Amino acid sequence: MDLTAASHRIPLSDGNSIPIIGLGTYSEPKLTSKGSCKTSVKMAIDVGYRHIDGAYIYRNEDEVGEAIREKIAEGRVKREDIFYCGKLWSTHFEPERVRPYLEKTLKALQLDYVDLYIIEMPMALKPGDEFYPKDEYGNWLYHNSNLCATWEVECHPYFTQRKLLEFCQQHDIVIVAYSPLGTSRNPLWVNVSIPPLLKDELLNSLGKKYNKTAAQVALRFNIQRRIVVIPKSFNPKRIKENFQIFDFSLTEEEMKSVEALNKDVRLVDLLLWSDHPEYPFYEEY
Ligand code: A2P
Repeated sequence: MDLTAASHRIPLSDGNSIPIIGLGTYSEPKLTSKGSCKTSVKMAIDVGYRHIDGAYIYRNEDEVGEAIREKIAEGRVKREDIFYCGKLWSTHFEPERVRPYLEKTLKALQLDYVDLYIIEMPMALKPGDEFYPKDEYGNWLYHNSNLCATWEVECHPYFTQRKLLEFCQQHDIVIVAYSPLGTSRNPLWVNVSIPPLLKDELLNSLGKKYNKTAAQVALRFNIQRRIVVIPKSFNPKRIKENFQIFDFSLTEEEMKSVEALNKDVRLVDLLLWSDHPEYPFYEEY
């Protein structure tokens, strides 16, 4: 396999390229200590990650920017070595709100550009500065939008997205898999009736064979299918562990057996917004 820890960008059809593993940085703000995001991003860059996935709404984009800028100042990386993906939140879909919202990201990061800017979620909420707008009765304030854009994709061994992957590969589209480890299982937005991915017997037994963990096997499964993964971790040991996926490979048969774990069920079902007119998950893909 040609992907290595030092060289793991895959080409995009516009001539750019994207590192196949990125550090996810969403962490429930109430449960996350100040500074842990910054420390994690710095450590990830030291370990070899060159792709960071973040968003203004994660409320730690300033820490991400500080970490990247410090690593540039130290001479560890150049700006162009880093691939940063930022996100447009649902309260800013109106065309005139997009640029100012992107500028918030740039200001928080204190960087001149982002490498990718995507729609966080395809359901619009009432435009304004309130991230989670509700009326006086506690009902969500939805908003109309006419989004034709596609959305980034949950993808892991329990939700392998075979049809979508075939479609995207035919059209030279690279998929970025969010929740590649099966999420932090927050019941507010995750279907926790599905058993934890990382407890899976097959993933663990394959891990044993290669002296790897179930998480490493789950990540390897996706990158071997040329799917970009963005596992979130703010834990030093796991940040390292999640990057150590370039020194083993799954056989064709093992790939098939992991694919067979597919349950066609989403973990991130966002049921709290299931009555939104644009709720996306009634469609097959
Ligand atoms: P932590 O930050 O404490 O490591 P996903 O990327 O699928 O959303 O999963 C993120 C969740 O998985 C987080 O709760 C993260 O917690 C945890 N996690 C990240 N890497 C690993 C790993 N290698 N083994 C077990 N849990 C992990």
